Amino acid sequence: MSEKAIPGSDRGPWDQRPGHLPLEPGEHPKAIYVYQWPLRLWHWIMMSCIVVLAITGYLIGAPPPSLGGEAWDTFVFGYIRMAHFIAGQILVVTFIARIWMVIFGNHHGRAIFWLPFLDIRYWKNVIDQALYYLFMKEGKTYIGHNPLANTAMFFSFTLPMFLMIVTGMALYSEGIGIDSWQYALFGWVFTLFGNSFVVHTVHHLGMYAICIFALIHVYMVFREDTMGDTTIVSTMVNGWRFFKPRDRR
Ligand code: HEM
Ligand code: HEM
Repeated sequence: MSEKAIPGSDRGPWDQRPGHLPLEPGEHPKAIYVYQWPLRLWHWIMMSCIVVLAITGYLIGAPPPSLGGEAWDTFVFGYIRMAHFIAGQILVVTFIARIWMVIFGNHHGRAIFWLPFLDIRYWKNVIDQALYYLFMKEGKTYIGHNPLANTAMFFSFTLPMFLMIVTGMALYSEGIGIDSWQYALFGWVFTLFGNSFVVHTVHHLGMYAICIFALIHVYMVFREDTMGDTTIVSTMVNGWRFFKPRDRR
């Protein structure tokens, strides 16, 4: 097998197989183009939206004291909600655009949207990766997300994101009015959860789930970049994953 991926291509020999399978002993590519630019752009836009949504969302749930004065002069809570809604709409549109990468992107673009539930090797590698983090086993080298990261992202990011978008859009539609087209699209969420209070609570708890994910994610990203076999942070910037020399340890 060639030592190099084809520059600028995601169709090099290494990319023909799923990124969640570890490299075989003796395989040592220099660099592989992993994350295509729309995915990288989405990652940073989505991250910025989540930062704004978590701060403004927290303030919506625990509002600051109302200020005295003219309403037009002290529209603080209005601006907080407006920032939340703008970031929310951008998040929804870019998330829908992200689905385009699931259909037309390379297999790294699909990874966090689908797990190979029936592949025993995958689940064995999830356990092996957990043992590696517990310093009980030698780590394996992956091209894409390692299977443990991939599984964590599916359950603690992808699924909660669907929940946040659906409950957020429902709350938004309620604000616009029950005769709006938005309510016609998302009114069923209130029927599903029972009432608006429960939807607010679920939406609020979802924020904590995503914040916990983000904290652990950022820690793991920097940890793996330092201790793992490959580059990580720069891969989400320029798309290329570089493989460190084997004798560096
Ligand atoms: C990761 C994404 C999101 C986070 C972390 C988040 C967070 C929050 C939080 C914590 C609240 C307060 C809930 C409460 O205690 O009542 C809230 C309210 C709300 N969010 Fe989100 N949200 C997100 C996405 C969205 C999206 C995509 C929309 C859709 C536009 C949205 C629309 C709303 C609306 C309409 C409210 C209620 C505002 C009000 O009652 O004044 N959110 N959000
Ligand atoms: C709100 C904060 C964040 C969220 C919710 C988040 C979410 C995600 C998700 C869902 C992925 C998988 C992308 C995919 O396969 O489609 C990812 C990958 C990645 N993120 Fe983040 N991210 C956040 C913040 C950050 C920050 C601050 C950094 C770096 C400083 C970062 C660096 C990365 C890197 C390097 C990857 C690729 C990891 C790998 O190749 O295994 N993320 N992130």
